[in-house]
Amino acid sequence: MSSHEPEPHSEFDVPPLTETIAPGTASDPDVTSAETATVTVDGQEVEVEAGSTLLDAVEEVETDEYVPALCHYDRQDIGPRSECRTCMVETDEGVVPACSTPAEDGLDVSTDAAPASEARDVNLDLVLSDHNLRCTTCGKNGRCDLQDVSIENDVEEPRYGVLDDRDEYEPIDDTSDFIQIDRNKCILCNRCVEACNDVQVEGVLRMEGHGGDTRIGFQNGSDTMEGSTCVSCGHCVTVCPTGSLVEKGIEDATTIPLPGFNQKNSVGKVVESADVEKGPMTPMKRDQVTETTRETGGDEERDWP
Ligand code: SF4
Ligand code: SF4
Ligand code: FES
Repeated sequence: MSSHEPEPHSEFDVPPLTETIAPGTASDPDVTSAETATVTVDGQEVEVEAGSTLLDAVEEVETDEYVPALCHYDRQDIGPRSECRTCMVETDEGVVPACSTPAEDGLDVSTDAAPASEARDVNLDLVLSDHNLRCTTCGKNGRCDLQDVSIENDVEEPRYGVLDDRDEYEPIDDTSDFIQIDRNKCILCNRCVEACNDVQVEGVLRMEGHGGDTRIGFQNGSDTMEGSTCVSCGHCVTVCPTGSLVEKGIEDATTIPLPGFNQKNSVGKVVESADVEKGPMTPMKRDQVTETTRETGGDEERDWP
């Protein structure tokens, strides 16, 4: 190839499909190793392919401590974003995020070094401080990455509190027929933005605002999901690690605390039953109709089932 001929595009520098779609990965760091590498994780040698990160190496072995990776989902397509810092590990070069540090030959990685372990704990508590932790009434209860990570890390009481302690509730966006957005549970991991823009290539979602006002928004400037250009493919819901994006119909479907994660560490009020006589739990519709027709003298015209 002559030096004047353009280099072919690699799979990573393909331009966005349209001028108007802002890709979600613009600030994803280029973090993969150039060559095959042998690194040591908690005393175990592991060889990883070119293009690997320390998180790849950590996932190859049984580590001394659990290393979560909340803002990271399927490295080929989404992330690493290096946003949540729940994946910190200690190396010869200090404490680094495993998801966005290249696996370089000869690196020594420790998951149980105290500074790394403490950094993961602090960062998880910071993530939880952006979340309302109402697990027992959340449609993602039992299939939530944030909950799984909190259980694995024995979180009892996040040191910085949870969003519920503060007075910053945003209204739930219930306008779409298929997806509910509860920004009070959003940990700003960016997974949904990347899934929508870079994988699904629909260009609907974006991060908007700054600092404490950062939130999930829409590229067309709409205030609601209904007014956005969403095609309801559901990809964003699939990758969301919390109950922030939930399929309609099961948005508040679950109320059962998980073992190890219950009222003690999820927000919720236990309501003592008043001294009242209990009726049937859920009256049958037909029974209600019969009651009503009896009281009102009946509705002869209506064809009840
Ligand atoms: S459901 Fe809508 S917002 Fe979510 S990925 Fe699909 S197009 Fe984007
Ligand atoms: S809505 Fe879910 S996937 Fe999107 S940024 Fe918030 S927590 Fe992450
Ligand atoms: S998974 Fe590494 S910073 Fe979020």
